[in-house]
Amino acid sequence: TNLSLIGAPVETGASQPGCLMGPDALRTAGMADTLRSLGYEVRDHGNAGSIADNDVSHDNDAIRNLRETVGWSRSLDDIGYRSATEGNLPVFLGGDHSISMGSIPAVTRYAAGKGQPQFVLWLDAHPDFHTLDSTRSGNLHGTPVAYVTGQPGFEGVFPALPVAVDAHNVCMFGIRSVDERERENLTRCGVTVHDMRAIDEYGVPVLLDAFLERVRAANGALHVSLDVDFLDPTIAPAVGTTVPGGATFREAHLIMEMLHDSALVSSLDVVELNPFLDERGRTAKLMVDLVASLFGKRVMDRPTRSY
Ligand code: ARG
Ligand code: MN
Ligand code: MN
Ligand code: MN
Repeated sequence: TNLSLIGAPVETGASQPGCLMGPDALRTAGMADTLRSLGYEVRDHGNAGSIADNDVSHDNDAIRNLRETVGWSRSLDDIGYRSATEGNLPVFLGGDHSISMGSIPAVTRYAAGKGQPQFVLWLDAHPDFHTLDSTRSGNLHGTPVAYVTGQPGFEGVFPALPVAVDAHNVCMFGIRSVDERERENLTRCGVTVHDMRAIDEYGVPVLLDAFLERVRAANGALHVSLDVDFLDPTIAPAVGTTVPGGATFREAHLIMEMLHDSALVSSLDVVELNPFLDERGRTAKLMVDLVASLFGKRVMDRPTRSY
């Protein structure tokens, strides 16, 4: 597999500035060389730019930076689709979580061309399931899952989706901050939501294996979207939307290690890193370390695991 690193210096979807520096902090923390040391061919495409020549608007006045964010989604969709068709596994270096409004449509379209359904593993404190109508904060990083699964209200604002992700094929881990309107819609649409309580109660392996089995049985493509705030803020402070009670170091690594063993992952977002809020680069380094686990870094070789 060839990995292509796509820098997405987007902060228009977030409340606080700083995610603009995310891709460069991930580079400084050694993303490319770490992946090369695991045996991959890695190409860093540098940072993408926004195509903000659109003239969109929406009557929810709370929405912030709509045109810029729509521009980013178009640009990242183009770049991501091209990277996938050239045979690479795209790794999107964010940037706030609105970058998934470009990355996921790109990989979903590519998968559909090969006859594969798209699955999404969403690792986050938040479900990011607001529509343009339901968002109160107006921060578009709270909307990507609703958009990519084809919820109503994005038409004529964000690019039309040739193929939406089936909401039943979205599985969320780490959730612990849900707005009321999101809660109603998540349940109605059939998204699988493993909140922190579920992780406490059942542990990562049982829950994740069940989802990976579904992906495998459907011969699906799997996109992983890793938000820094999935992690507990004590180990990952560099994010504008910290929520206490997040995933531990080992829970997060176990997810990554199981994803590697599954050999199902076909694309990845690393999002919401705000280097302005970091402590001596520790969050950036942790994100690189987690990505390394996802791509095969291990302590010891081990027999194929089964539960
Ligand atoms: N639900 C909240 C909102 O709409 C928080 C969203 C946080 N999203 C994120 N990608 N950090 O503002
Ligand atoms: Mn998020
Ligand atoms: Mn989040
Ligand atoms: Mn379905």
